[in-house]
Amino acid sequence: MNADGRTRLDQTPEWTALAKHREELGSLRLREVFAAHPDRGTAYTLRVGDLYIDYSKHLVTDDTLRLLRELATATDVFGLRDAMFRGERINTTEDRAVLHTALRAPRDAVVEVDGENVVPAVHAVLDKMASFADRVRSGEWTGHTGKRIRNVVNVGIGGSDLGPAMAYEALRAFTDRDLAVRFVSNVDGSDLHEAIRDLDPAETLFVIASKTFTTIETVTNATSARTWLLNALDGGEAAVAKHFVALSTNAEKVADFGIDTANMFEFWDWVGGRYSYDSAIGLSLMIAIGPDRFREMLDGFRLVDDHFRTAPAESNVPLLLGLLGVWYGNFLGAQSHAVLPYSHYLSKFTAYLQQLDMESNGKYVGRDGREVQWQTGPVVWGTPGTNGQHAYYQLIHQGTKLIPADFIGFAEPVAELSDELKAQHDLLMANFFAQTQALAFGKTPDEVRSEGVPEELVPHKTFKGDHPTTTILARELTPSVLGQLVALYEHKVFVQGAIWNIDSFDQWGVELGKVLAKRVEPALTEGADVPGLDASTRALVATYRELRGR
Ligand code: F6P
Repeated sequence: MNADGRTRLDQTPEWTALAKHREELGSLRLREVFAAHPDRGTAYTLRVGDLYIDYSKHLVTDDTLRLLRELATATDVFGLRDAMFRGERINTTEDRAVLHTALRAPRDAVVEVDGENVVPAVHAVLDKMASFADRVRSGEWTGHTGKRIRNVVNVGIGGSDLGPAMAYEALRAFTDRDLAVRFVSNVDGSDLHEAIRDLDPAETLFVIASKTFTTIETVTNATSARTWLLNALDGGEAAVAKHFVALSTNAEKVADFGIDTANMFEFWDWVGGRYSYDSAIGLSLMIAIGPDRFREMLDGFRLVDDHFRTAPAESNVPLLLGLLGVWYGNFLGAQSHAVLPYSHYLSKFTAYLQQLDMESNGKYVGRDGREVQWQTGPVVWGTPGTNGQHAYYQLIHQGTKLIPADFIGFAEPVAELSDELKAQHDLLMANFFAQTQALAFGKTPDEVRSEGVPEELVPHKTFKGDHPTTTILARELTPSVLGQLVALYEHKVFVQGAIWNIDSFDQWGVELGKVLAKRVEPALTEGADVPGLDASTRALVATYRELRGR
């Protein structure tokens, strides 16, 4: 029994039934499964919005899926889902509602937090963002010297960087190509240096993105950016007002920094940082793609929200993806999950998902405050195909680890490519389909022999197969499709956190490092004697100072 009165997850009959099923199933061979069920390639598919999901190449049977759904019922995934959509404070350790879904609710929706409908405020901020984005895009908003804004530099980190940076990259084809949009996150000064070294301050707008406005990396970079600007432009506060805007929940800190709160775009404590790029945190993106495209993206999010909220368990895609992850992580021993987009525009997608998934579900303490006795979130990793094929796919095909993977691809290349470059798309997607095929079905020793391969090389050229993949296919990477994809993963992460009985919406695990960094800094800069420093760190600090000639 858990401290909260729930039966311990791994002692529930549903969990035990899955463990028994896993024993009975033994090693499922996808070749045999497909031979026995020739319609599996179409039967094990789902659609949501513009997304076609093929889960046929998974090591599951109808019974596996049924037992997994029973586990979801036993752990009340849909009950917690409804509580989230209702605005209940399901982020218990921070005592907050979890309402990123309200960010994409239609104008006439009612979503209440503590009895107050938050939707009008969401749309008021969206309207304010749209009017500002339009003014920047049209040239009506000018810099302090009257020059048009040609560069936008987003300064933020974590959720205040990864989301807008990923989406900007994903939707490059929809951006205003006359605007340079750059993203600075690292407190390593070279990040800001490289972002601004070739920019004209008079044409540069800094968008300071920080939910708390206390994050040391962001405040430090923002301060340096302000110095750079004021060194080039006289004008003090008046110049800052034309070149700095803030995206935050913390008006007081924004004002302390010297940004006029009239130039602040607000969001709320019920939006988690990693769930925030469809809030005011998306301003740089909105400036790049324009308000209409931004709203199309929100429509895409909403479509998957509605699906997650209403679709029955059998056809609920986020539920399915979450359950498959539970199957591999908790019953088949997988430690990681690869996300492999076959679109160069999604080059930052997996990095974005790393925060979404690993900061949400990388926890060993349950909602009841006790250490969990089961595996929680996986290591999420991956880069765009086909680059990965020539790097680490070897290990996925022939290594000793089970690595479930998501393959994400599109039927159409983006419209603006030349005909010659568009023609490359079939080759890209041929690689995509070939990889999932090879991973699932491999190549038997007999097949290798039949090619005349010498016997001593046969084991080396054999592919065991049975490496599970999900294929997510859409016609084209549009703003709406991007919103659909992100919402799909947000809700997948939700499902898993609900099953594992962890709070997916706090992030206490990032705090200790922040505190220690503050403590160690004076030792580096002033050689201060920091009490309680361990022997290894003390020696490292001394060596660092020596190397810097201090
Ligand atoms: O340290 C982790 C974190 O709190 C993330 O959850 C968050 O996205 C990031 O830092 C940035 O926080 P903020 O937007 O408050 O600057």
